[in-house]
Amino acid sequence: MEYITTAPFHILVVEDNLGDFILVEDFILREISEPVITHARTFEEAKALIENEDFQCQLVLLDLSLPDRTGEALIEEVVSLCHHIPIVVLTGYTNFNFGMKSLGMGISDYLLKDDLTASSLFKSIIYSTERKRIISELEMSEKRARGFAGQLNNALEEERSRMAREIHDEFGQQLSGLKMSLSALRKRHQGDRDMEELIVALVADVDHSIDSVRRLANELRPALLDKLGLFSAIEWLVVEFQKKTGVEAQFRTDFEQPMMEKSIEINIFRICQEALTNIAKHAKATRVGIQIERVNTQLLIKIMDNGKGIGSEILKDPLSMGLMNMKERSNLIQAELQINSAQAGTVIELIIDHIWP
Ligand SMILES: Nc1ncnc2c1ncn2[C@@H]1O[C@H](COP(=O)(O)OP(=O)(O)OP(=O)(O)O)[C@@H](O)[C@H]1O
Ligand SMILES: [Mg+2]
Repeated sequence: MEYITTAPFHILVVEDNLGDFILVEDFILREISEPVITHARTFEEAKALIENEDFQCQLVLLDLSLPDRTGEALIEEVVSLCHHIPIVVLTGYTNFNFGMKSLGMGISDYLLKDDLTASSLFKSIIYSTERKRIISELEMSEKRARGFAGQLNNALEEERSRMAREIHDEFGQQLSGLKMSLSALRKRHQGDRDMEELIVALVADVDHSIDSVRRLANELRPALLDKLGLFSAIEWLVVEFQKKTGVEAQFRTDFEQPMMEKSIEINIFRICQEALTNIAKHAKATRVGIQIERVNTQLLIKIMDNGKGIGSEILKDPLSMGLMNMKERSNLIQAELQINSAQAGTVIELIIDHIWP
């Protein structure tokens, strides 16, 4: 059978043994119509070719013992060069464990030269190419979804910020105006006790509304986060949490907040906010804490509770939107999020690298 493609199929054969190369070339020519076969005898020769922008290649056939590189080191370097090009390893050694390991390192297939036939090589070439194409498409699609999630998050933050400003400025101003008018009215009715009492009660209501408006605006987008930065905003979250739930909550850190991009601060803040909301809603905890540490160049944020813990089946559930959003946000800022939960409670750790040089 001959494989006919609309465009020539380019294969790079990296092989130092001329006899083996001729055999492989012969097998390819038997199965694929008019392929373009390039031959490299060393790793450096192959590297120069792959790095050349004009060089086209749809698959690399790689011998594992070259004069300038061999084995694992060779696979590592070729995989890092190839990105979207599938690599099929050809080797004279029967080492099943090594074969398995090399598949984990990113090669597409592992073939033994002694067992090689034209059709087994052809099958491997076609399967590897198809598999790599599908994986690349999946990666692209995941990248697009990530980008979209990032944009959505930014839009959401902007919208929240705008709404917080509107609520604060519009309602806040109007309520302050109302309070001033009530004071003026009270002066006019001085001596009329019933009227004065009514106005004092109204002023108290207006004060209460001003507090609510401020709280609402702050929950949407804490002014503290923009004015004083992340650490102060997290401390505020913890204080508010204790006020609202009556559960003892502590904030601990012993160093100054480093400079961080605003988007990193916002995402960390939202993760802490969701974690505390979850604790309030689900944990039944009696003690809660957020602790921020520095470990070399990393910023480590721990959110802890001594509640009932999160069941492992819930942790795996893709429909846990709150938990998933936390993971998504940590991905967006290239951080790592670990959730360790047991019956003694939950510890959520957020690790952000390269905060310090
Ligand atoms: N700190 C915690 N302690 C105990 N259980 C928790 C904790 N955090 C989360 N959970 C459990 O994990 C589940 C999923 O959390 P998630 O935040 O994804 O959803 P939710 O809080 O129920 O809803 P949403 O966040 O979408 O409003 C919760 O329903 C709860 O059962
Ligand atoms: Mg939640």
